[in-house]
Amino acid sequence: MRKYGRIAVLTGGGDCPGINAVIRAVAKKAILQHGLEVIGIEDGYEGAILNHYRKLQFKDVSGIITQGGTILGTSNIANPYRYALKKNGILEFKDVSKETISNIGKLEIDCLVCIGGDGTLSIANDLYKDGVPIIGIPKTIDNDLRGTDITFGFDSAVTIATEGIDRLHSTAQSHHRVMVVEVMGRNAGWIALHAGVAGGGDIILIPEIPYNLDVIIERVRERSLSGKRFSIIVISEGARSINGKTVIQKIVKESLDPVRYGGVGFVLGTQIEELTGIETRTVVLGHLQRGGTPTPFDRVLATRLGTRAVEMILNEHFGSMVGIQKNELVEVPLAEVVGGQRTVSPDDPLISAAREVGTSFGDKV
Ligand code: F6P
Repeated sequence: MRKYGRIAVLTGGGDCPGINAVIRAVAKKAILQHGLEVIGIEDGYEGAILNHYRKLQFKDVSGIITQGGTILGTSNIANPYRYALKKNGILEFKDVSKETISNIGKLEIDCLVCIGGDGTLSIANDLYKDGVPIIGIPKTIDNDLRGTDITFGFDSAVTIATEGIDRLHSTAQSHHRVMVVEVMGRNAGWIALHAGVAGGGDIILIPEIPYNLDVIIERVRERSLSGKRFSIIVISEGARSINGKTVIQKIVKESLDPVRYGGVGFVLGTQIEELTGIETRTVVLGHLQRGGTPTPFDRVLATRLGTRAVEMILNEHFGSMVGIQKNELVEVPLAEVVGGQRTVSPDDPLISAAREVGTSFGDKV
């Protein structure tokens, strides 16, 4: 370790279960094993831009492994290279990276640990290229980051979505209805695929496999005729039909990831009810999937990633992200992680397994 023995941590992008478990792992190991000082930067890069930070004592990170959200706060808007400011009601963007890097320099830290998804880690990579020693830790419920087989938050989101599907199953059965359950994931279908399989969805629709409405209608009718008087359809918010467009709820211009999906479940639900005459209801699980306590799996993963990140700091392996591949911790250059997405391959073994048990992906009969 160099002169000061001080590190800083920030969390950027959407929150998810397990962030506090990572903060705890990094800070506890840094304090207990290496006597480092730990600074918590507040609200993602906003805190680095505006100098909002606080020292994290051992007591601050004790007892937080079960807590959802992030004790540091987050922002999916603040970007030092494109800082959004409103002047006379008009949105303008300014490059404040020089000032931000100078602020970080004044903290006299040996490393900035950035916990986040693609947007946060892209900025982290830019800061690294501009001379800031950075270690990245992958976080997102969407599970769409390159360089790692899984991100923490994903298992918790799948668990919540599965519980939602389970609960909708019983009401669908009782009322003989079609239930359309829309889950998050942007343009990656991981949550829909895993929660759909775990919840026994009859039809799973993901962005990577555009659906054919006729196939869905036929499957729902067929189930009805065979005496199964209900159907469960799990649809990813980024799914689209073969001749339709992705349903976009809004564009948040100043955001790191400007597109906000949402609503495709309602579009599909209306079409199903009209074309089959079967009562249909849509439920959007939304931000529920990001809330609450992390699953044991995510707590364990967070602890493994966080403690390894401290090793990487001590070894000065800056410009890298800690990931997990084939259940082994790995170090991946940030440059290889950012600027692309890990989506579901249509040949994914779980898709084949689901098809083998009769699940439809809305693409073929
Ligand atoms: O990336 C995580 C995620 O929850 C996506 O699944 C979802 O599309 C998006 O963030 C929602 O963003 P916001 O919290 O800004 O509505």
